[in-house]
Amino acid sequence: MGDIKFPENFYWGAATSAHQVEGNQNNDWADWERKNAKRLVKEAGMYWQEWQQEKFPEMFEEENYISGVACKHYELFREDFETAKNLGHNAHRFSIEWSRIEPKEGCFDEGAIRHYQKVVNALLELGMEPFVTLYHWTLPLWFCRKGGWLNKKSPIYFERYVRKVSSALKGIRFFITINEPNIYASQSYLKGSWPPQKKNFFLYKRVLNNLVKAHCQAYSVIKKINSQIQVGIAKNIVYFEAVNGNLVNSSLEKLSDYFHNLWFLNKIRNYQDFIGLNYYFHSRINFGFNKNKNKLVSDLGWEIYPKGIYFALKLASKFKKPIFITENGVADKEDKIRSWFIENHLLWVGKAIGEGINVKGYFYWSLLDNFEWDKGFWPRFGLVEVDYKTQKRKIRQSALVYKKIIEQNSL
Ligand code: BGC
Repeated sequence: MGDIKFPENFYWGAATSAHQVEGNQNNDWADWERKNAKRLVKEAGMYWQEWQQEKFPEMFEEENYISGVACKHYELFREDFETAKNLGHNAHRFSIEWSRIEPKEGCFDEGAIRHYQKVVNALLELGMEPFVTLYHWTLPLWFCRKGGWLNKKSPIYFERYVRKVSSALKGIRFFITINEPNIYASQSYLKGSWPPQKKNFFLYKRVLNNLVKAHCQAYSVIKKINSQIQVGIAKNIVYFEAVNGNLVNSSLEKLSDYFHNLWFLNKIRNYQDFIGLNYYFHSRINFGFNKNKNKLVSDLGWEIYPKGIYFALKLASKFKKPIFITENGVADKEDKIRSWFIENHLLWVGKAIGEGINVKGYFYWSLLDNFEWDKGFWPRFGLVEVDYKTQKRKIRQSALVYKKIIEQNSL
C-alpha cells in the first residue's frame, strides 16, 4: 500500500440508477417486468449454470423479476447517502427518472422536481458531488407509445425534458446525458431481449442515430443554460484483446474497437466535456469473441479482468478529455472477491494515471444491491447489502476496504 497515489481532489464514490433502486416506477420497464416475469422464471433454468441455480434459488420466483419497491431509495435516499458519506465517499452518481418528471407528454410534475432537488441538496449538504444521469434506460410510457427512440422527434422530446431539469435543478455541476447508449440500443433493438424487444438491424441503427442527436441537443441546451456545467455520457468500454498478431484476430480487434467502443464517442466528439467510462468486460479474440480464460468469474459468470480497465482508459484517452470511471463493479453475494476486485482495478487505474491519463474519479457500481434489469434482484453488486424483505442495509467488508483506499487516496 502507498505506492500508487491518486490525484488531489479525486472523486470517489459509487453509482446507482433510478429504476434499479427507487421503487414504485411507472415506466416502460415496470410494464415489461409484469408481462415477462413468468417467462423469465421459465427461462432461468436453461440460461444459468447449475452452481448459479443452486446459489440463487430466487431466480425461480416471479417476484425476483419485478422491481416493485426495489430498495425504497426514493424514500431512504438520505440514509443511504449518509452511509456513503460514512464510507468516505465524496461524490455520488445517481439518475433522474424521466417518467416521474414528465409523466404525461409536456406536463412536468413539480413535486418530482422538488424531490430531486432534495436529493441533490442532501448530497451537497454532506459534501458529496452529485453526478446526475438524465437517462438510464427507462422511459415514460407516453414516449414509448410514440415509438420511443425510433421516433424521429425523440431527440426533441428528450431535449424538452433536459431543458426543464437542467434549468430547474440547482447545484449540479456534472450531467451524464445517457447511460451506455449502445448497450441499450443493442439489447433492445438487436438482441431483442429488453423492452421493446425489437430485433432489427435497421431499427437498431436508427435508435443509435437518434441517441447521438439526443445527446448533442441535450449537451447544447445544458451549456446554454449554464456553460460551467460539465456534460458527457457514460460509455461502456470493452477491452478487446487479439491473442496474437494474426491478421484475422487483429482485424476483429480493430473493428470491435471502432464499432463498439469508439463509434458513439466519435460521433459526439465535439459535444462532450468529459468521458464517463463504464468497465466490466474483457473479450479475448481468437477467431471469435469471448475466448476468455475465465480464471475468476463473478456470480453472473462474467470474467474478472482488472488489467482491462487500463486498456479501456488508454483507448478513451485518445479523445483528450478528462475521464471519470462512472461504473466498475462485481456481482458477489458473499463478498469474497469484491475487495480484491476494487483494489486490483484501482491498481490499473493508478498505472494509467501514472502514465499521464487524466482520470478524475471512480464510481463503484453499486452503492446498494439493486434490481439488475432482466436478471432481477439476485445478482448482488452492492457495497451495501440490502435485505429486500425488511429494507435493512448492511455494510459489506469490501466497503471498508474501499473506504481505506479513499481515506489514504492511495493504494
Ligand atoms: C449498467 C447498470 C447495470 C450494470 C451491471 C451497467 O452496464 O449501467 O445499470 O446494473 O451494468 O450489469
